[in-house]
Amino acid sequence: MGAQVHGTQHFDAKKRAELKFSDAAMETVKDIISRYPEKHIKSALLPVLHVAQAEFGGWLSPETMDYVASVLKIKPIEVFEVASFYTMYNLKPVGKCTFEVCQTSSCWLNGAEDIVKYIEKKLNIKVGETTKDGMFTLKTAECLGSCGTAPMLQCGASYHENLTYDKVDKLIEKYKSENKLRSYTDLDYNNTL
Ligand code: FES
Repeated sequence: MGAQVHGTQHFDAKKRAELKFSDAAMETVKDIISRYPEKHIKSALLPVLHVAQAEFGGWLSPETMDYVASVLKIKPIEVFEVASFYTMYNLKPVGKCTFEVCQTSSCWLNGAEDIVKYIEKKLNIKVGETTKDGMFTLKTAECLGSCGTAPMLQCGASYHENLTYDKVDKLIEKYKSENKLRSYTDLDYNNTL
């Protein structure tokens, strides 16, 4: 089923059979589901996909989307349609830390383009690419609602604002030393930069 739903992407039935949320993640998923009437369970899909993305390596593989469909008792194609529409979901592997640099007016006027070029040079990747060590992915984003502190970037749940080259250097060092997957569900993360 998954192989049909996800087109050309390989579907690994063995991997799919082994997929399971950790107890903590399943608790979170159950809590999310409980907020919606049973007949509108599909409304839980967006937050559940965030949990799944954080739980299974920072991206949504065909197997993960198929698993989420089974948890929510909806069709895999319904999961794929949503996951492929929103840019916050990754449909291919990404680094542990994804830098999303805002490119919209305020950030652009305040040097976002130079910040992107600086990160590209520093990490030796282009926008859309991941470093060889699997640590960083670089993306651009549309306005992230932090225009007054432009230029800025988002990494997981953290906003890093008033960016300078020096700040970018410190961010890269900080994330390297922490060496962990950053996701939109890191709500307890203490951002100090
Ligand atoms: S223009 Fe960058 S956050 Fe709004």
